[in-house]
Amino acid sequence: MPAELNFAPAPLDREAPVYVAGHRGLAGSAIWRKLEAEGFSRLVRRTSAELDLKDRAAVFEFFEQEKPEYVFLAAAKVGGILANNTYPADFLSENLQIQVNVMDAAVRFGVRRLLFLGSSCIYPKFAAQPISESALLQGDLEPTNDAYAIAKIAGILNVQAVRRQHGLPWISAMPTNLYGPGDNFSRLGSHVLPAMIRRYEEARLDGVESVTNWGTGSPRREFLHVDDLASALLHLMENYDGAQHVNVGTGTDVTIKELAEAIAATVGYEGTSEWDASKPDGTPQKLLDVSKLNGTGWFPTINLEQGLKSTVEWFREHAEDFRQ
Ligand SMILES: NC(=O)c1ccc[n+]([C@@H]2O[C@H](COP(=O)([O-])OP(=O)(O)OC[C@H]3O[C@@H](n4cnc5c(N)ncnc54)[C@H](OP(=O)(O)O)[C@@H]3O)[C@@H](O)[C@H]2O)c1
Repeated sequence: MPAELNFAPAPLDREAPVYVAGHRGLAGSAIWRKLEAEGFSRLVRRTSAELDLKDRAAVFEFFEQEKPEYVFLAAAKVGGILANNTYPADFLSENLQIQVNVMDAAVRFGVRRLLFLGSSCIYPKFAAQPISESALLQGDLEPTNDAYAIAKIAGILNVQAVRRQHGLPWISAMPTNLYGPGDNFSRLGSHVLPAMIRRYEEARLDGVESVTNWGTGSPRREFLHVDDLASALLHLMENYDGAQHVNVGTGTDVTIKELAEAIAATVGYEGTSEWDASKPDGTPQKLLDVSKLNGTGWFPTINLEQGLKSTVEWFREHAEDFRQ
């Protein structure tokens, strides 16, 4: 007999304890900023050094002590293709442990509402575009990150199982590619957008006349600013209830060439861009169907031009951290 879900759209209680797991990460730090700006007065955080979410006993102790009423689960072992492909056992094991420990403790201590973050990269490799929520588990995964994907899919199933068994109105969101302040600009492991910002900024500073990018520049990709992500996630926590995860994106995409032009303009690079077509392009398009999210009344507010501006500013302020 499924437990009964108790949810009515309403603002979250600003006085209640809220735990942001992974508050130093790209997504988690944006969620933290958003909740602070919204007046949440009892935000709870721990770095991985203070609380390793793989340590089940420590996680239970933490929940018993802090008794969070809401949880944003944005802690995860995240990496690029190379790391995912080289250490699949670690990506599978660590993400499963983090999720299971947090969700088990959250059930045990009665967390009213929990939001789990999936990722658009866990949809099947050849999903029809734009990718709708129903595409999950309908085809083969991208082999380079299948272990990560299976762990994250287990997280989405975990939320659904808790709903069925315990009647807690928990939800999952599936964000598209994120970017913004706090992004990973390191040479190894950064995604296309921060890698390009760094490449064009360094070319500008070094007076290099031409920048060469991989591929033809024709693939289309979607990018969501993390501050929009945070706003969408709070909106979902306050307004959405359902077993199915919700795609979170802008619903629009750009070619990689358009992205490069926008980044060059934002950093003020005046040289030319070359495209090395001998390098692989990857899949031609990756775009989420965001009609479900839009149906809840949420739309993005930060366009690519504005988003790049704040991201470049952040990178410049933190450039010293990336000098290696
Ligand atoms: N970045 C994207 O484009 C993107 C797109 C779609 C979905 N997502 C999803 O969003 C979530 C967060 O991604 P992100 O890009 O924000 O990652 P991130 O920047 O790497 O941050 C992940 C955070 O998780 C914490 N963490 C990792 N292992 C931990 C452990 N064992 N114990 C406690 N904390 C741990 C880290 O905390 P410390 O800093 O304290 O070590 C880190 O701050 C992931 O589920 C990811 O799949 C990201």
